[in-house]
Amino acid sequence: MRSTRFTDIRRFDTIDSTNRYLLDEARAGAPEGVVAVADHQEAGRGRLGRRWEAPPGTNLLVSVLLRPRLPAASRHLASTAVALAASDAVARCAGSAPGIKWPNDLLGRDGRKLAGVLAEADPGDTPDGSDGPVVVGIGINVGWPAVEADLPPELAGTATSVLLDTGVAVDRQELLAGLLAALDPRVDALATPGGRTALSSELRDRCVTVGARVRVVLPAESFEGIATDVTTEGHLVVDTGRGRRSVVAGDVVHVRPAG
Ligand code: BTN
Repeated sequence: MRSTRFTDIRRFDTIDSTNRYLLDEARAGAPEGVVAVADHQEAGRGRLGRRWEAPPGTNLLVSVLLRPRLPAASRHLASTAVALAASDAVARCAGSAPGIKWPNDLLGRDGRKLAGVLAEADPGDTPDGSDGPVVVGIGINVGWPAVEADLPPELAGTATSVLLDTGVAVDRQELLAGLLAALDPRVDALATPGGRTALSSELRDRCVTVGARVRVVLPAESFEGIATDVTTEGHLVVDTGRGRRSVVAGDVVHVRPAG
């Protein structure tokens, strides 16, 4: 395989959170491209302050440290790059490409969540919100849940795994290698306007949210409409019937199918 910027791969049997680890490394000056991967996280972080749980040795729990040169408005594309690379890697290993539910989830063939992405940055490093380090972590449900009965009640009907979704028992190391190989050129793409346009267009093509009627929940309000597009910055465009609104990933609490 051609070499990538991801040569420094730090493996942990158990850690609190690979995102937390790389944020600390970033503060200490670690360069772009450091990867942290764990067999088990004791305090895995999900969106909205939730926990991200998986039994030891079952799923891919990995974070990458990026130092992308990006306008502040386009920062979401760093997460997009990881989501697209993960979708490619799952397709390569299991034969089926997960769709992307804007802003961050990978979905299995039946629409259940297969993976989640969490980007974290230290605001102190990026006073104007641009450049600066960003840690992008992804949890891909590879072998767990293996059967429906594995899921705790709160995840039943909403979560799946590569194994459950495709029947393929994917090797986590192979999946990681595929993810990093697919991510490397996309990190290059973050640095140029043309590259960012290409990334946003890939997102638009794979985004299962575009075309759907959605309810957008923001901290102070919510509204409904048809998701019609993804902008070149990676924002979701929603036609409310009274006009179009552009939704920024960092502001959103939920985007849900509207009944
Ligand atoms: C979500 O809530 O959908 C995002 C989940 C992100 C989980 C991953 S697992 C590896 C990395 N380390 C963490 O603590 N969280 C992310």
